[in-house]
Amino acid sequence: THQWRGIIEEYRDRLPVSDSTPVVTLREGGTPLVPAQVLSERTGCEVHLKVEGANPTGSFKDRGMTMAISRAKEEGAKAVICASTGNTSASAAAYAVRAGMVCAVLVPQGKIALGKMGQALIHGAKILQVDGNFDDCLTLARALSDNYPVALVNSVNPVRIEGQKTAAFEIVDMLGDAPDIHVLPVGNAGNITAYWKGYKEYAADGIAAKTPRMWGFQASGSAPIVRGEVVKDPSTIATAIRIGNPASWNYALAARDESGGLIDEVTDREILRAYRLLAAQEGVFVEPASAASVAGLLKAAEQGLVDPGQKIVCTVTGNGLKDPDWAVAGAPQPVTVPVDAATAAERLGLV
Ligand code: F0G
Repeated sequence: THQWRGIIEEYRDRLPVSDSTPVVTLREGGTPLVPAQVLSERTGCEVHLKVEGANPTGSFKDRGMTMAISRAKEEGAKAVICASTGNTSASAAAYAVRAGMVCAVLVPQGKIALGKMGQALIHGAKILQVDGNFDDCLTLARALSDNYPVALVNSVNPVRIEGQKTAAFEIVDMLGDAPDIHVLPVGNAGNITAYWKGYKEYAADGIAAKTPRMWGFQASGSAPIVRGEVVKDPSTIATAIRIGNPASWNYALAARDESGGLIDEVTDREILRAYRLLAAQEGVFVEPASAASVAGLLKAAEQGLVDPGQKIVCTVTGNGLKDPDWAVAGAPQPVTVPVDAATAAERLGLV
């Protein structure tokens, strides 16, 4: 009876829903805000991780998808479509099942993690692999939704942003105020837009006394906002944020500028270092793209940009199980032992 009800019921008065909106939910949101001991020591700050991989389909996309699918159902849609680097498609596929809708998915061929593909498949989505990158997929998805009876549920759909802003509400509800700095990975730039909107709304209503500085990090091979120009052939091991022409580019710039924040880049090497640190030293397994926030925080700290004593929240956007290749790669193969305690003890270094 005390279960978290999902973001629509928990924040109904702050979301564009009415009594006649059918709520399609998997009880998303209410995710852990975990104190990060090692990151706090390294930065001299109080660092928390907003663990969005704890959502029902394993990423923050569920917050936006409960809104997008509920509203699409209210409007009578029978089918939805999205372009995706993997997580949006996994989420759309699951929520479409709940709504009894057909879900069509466009993904860049060969560039989505196996776990995410598995999710879309097992939830029964109609998947097309597009011979192009995410940006091409989004162009195609827009064209299809403009000309055929199918509703677009990418974050260019404003109700997606409305759902995703609830993560900022949860953080303020937990901490009692906004943090000093909020750090997150940036791909299509919907999420940084959503958090900034959420923080601004709480501050405007006096629920938070301040707004945080927004720090966004792109992967170096896919950093159009940092470079100030479209990246034609984006590359990074963090496939979730392999995006060269973000749809919410201008909103990301506004979040940066209005908050006194920054948008910078981190290399794949820095991403992988943060990915391993999170797992090995904080006990939090995230997918590579999610580690871009933490990589960015560590980079900024090394550059002397992080004054000690601040409250910092890093969003880690997706669950590590979605893309375990990078956890296994480079790790030593476990040795095989017979069913023998003495041998096992010796191999484990217990003697
Ligand atoms: N982290 C993860 C794990 C993601 O899946 C995404 C985006 C981002 C960060 C970046 O968020 O696009 O709002 O700036 N994934 C989208 C998808 C593009 O299709 O799943 P953003």
